Amino acid sequence: MRKPMVAGNWKMNKTVSEAREFAAEIGEASRQTEVEAVLLPPYTALYPLKEALLEHAPNVKLGAQNMYWEEKGAYTGEISPLMLQEMGIQYVVLGHSERRAYFHETDEEIGKKVNAAFTHHLTPILCVGETLEERERNETEKVISRQLQIFLNFPKEPVESMVIAYEPVWAIGTGKTATSEEAARVIAWIRRQIQALVNERAAEKIRILYGGSVNPGNIAELMAEEEIDGVLVGGASLKPDSFVEMVRIAGRRRGK
Ligand code: PGA
Repeated sequence: MRKPMVAGNWKMNKTVSEAREFAAEIGEASRQTEVEAVLLPPYTALYPLKEALLEHAPNVKLGAQNMYWEEKGAYTGEISPLMLQEMGIQYVVLGHSERRAYFHETDEEIGKKVNAAFTHHLTPILCVGETLEERERNETEKVISRQLQIFLNFPKEPVESMVIAYEPVWAIGTGKTATSEEAARVIAWIRRQIQALVNERAAEKIRILYGGSVNPGNIAELMAEEEIDGVLVGGASLKPDSFVEMVRIAGRRRGK
């Protein structure tokens, strides 16, 4: 059984003190043990947030929003997997569409990052998804299929622990959500691709989340789809109440 996940991607939001305040207000989320609640703050808030979560919400996990693939060296402005590993965090988001679009990250680079994450025992949350133009050209599967080719180069065993987030780019930060049936259909298709690219076991184990304008009002419908293992949430994860509410709703899902 795949444990549902609610991951809050703060993007470039929240200072250290704001992150600490958030942690102090979400104790509730950490009592919800049927769901894995994860926060993805900016690098600067990672360590202080880790300390604050230990105190206030110890079950809430932490991840970074990106990283470079080399362990160290002359790469001004980058953060290495070694640095994240030492901090004792569990997850790292890789290939988010904002990284692909604004910072021109390629599938090849994202593949190197995923491999580096495995080497350093970090669990990648790999984002895939099509843009509006691609969707209108009926290229959703073609685009995601290209993005998933990197799976051919991953070691088989750690791949099973990873997380994929299907985030249609047109749904991110726009208030437009894919319908739950649409999201479930693409996610089921992604699972079949993993089966073909890796194996049956990986396809069964890998959690596949939906992301794009998820909020407390639409999460129940999305989570009602058996195929959807959780959500990656941007805007609606910035308020403690709303984050806690989404974790609570996701926790009801497996009871049905
Ligand atoms: P959003 O962002 O929930 O604000 O649409 C989702 C994401 O980019 O992960």
